[in-house]
Amino acid sequence: MVKIAPSILAADFARLGAEIDSVREGGADWLHFDVMDGVFVPNLSLGFPVLEGVRAYTDLFLDVHLMIREPKRYVSRFCEAGADLVTVHAEADTEEEIRSALREVRALGRKAGLALKPGTAWDRALPFIEDVDLILVMTVEPGFGGQSFMANVLPKLGLLRETLDEFGLECLLEVDGGVNPLTASLAVASGAQVLVAGSDVFHAQNRKEQIDLLRGSVKNGADREGDGALPPKRI
Ligand code: DX5
Ligand code: ZN
Repeated sequence: MVKIAPSILAADFARLGAEIDSVREGGADWLHFDVMDGVFVPNLSLGFPVLEGVRAYTDLFLDVHLMIREPKRYVSRFCEAGADLVTVHAEADTEEEIRSALREVRALGRKAGLALKPGTAWDRALPFIEDVDLILVMTVEPGFGGQSFMANVLPKLGLLRETLDEFGLECLLEVDGGVNPLTASLAVASGAQVLVAGSDVFHAQNRKEQIDLLRGSVKNGADREGDGALPPKRI
């Protein structure tokens, strides 16, 4: 069963509680929380006080995506602030520091995730494979919501899927960026199990209907998967 994780980056922050309620009632599985530092990506977004407020407001699983340099400095504070899963970027520091950040998250009893930018090769995840519960494959350049899905990332997703299956690892595969009912079905056909969707969900009038559409497209995609009707394509 695919999980849907609406990204609150696209929510109306003046009504954040009601926005969270709307996706929770609409059937969201997780809530995706984007943190940007203006250095790793050319944008700023949310931080500790907002995460603490969201944590106090909802018991939804909080999927925190750190787009920050040297994330080891802050992972424990994000865990304390209420993250259930903390994802750091492979490109954000040395291999040693990233491994240490991932282990710290797990030592604090939270799930640890590793994110790969679109241009980062799939095998950059290999040295971390024992230390992660999730791999996040970015399908846009991180930093902004509302961009178009990069279908050329799909083969990378497929390679990661094969590797995880080959080693019998439980690690989840997540995609983030430009997810809509069409691209969701492509991502799931390539092995994604968690779909982050910002604009597609929060810019829809009816969030339940949109979440249902995302799930429905995935089901239809899975039905067609076997007959090769879903070749990766650039859109
Ligand atoms: C982009 C963020 C995404 C963003 C996705 O850097 O990591 O989570 O919110 O937004 P959409 O779904 O609009 O592409
Ligand atoms: Zn994100």
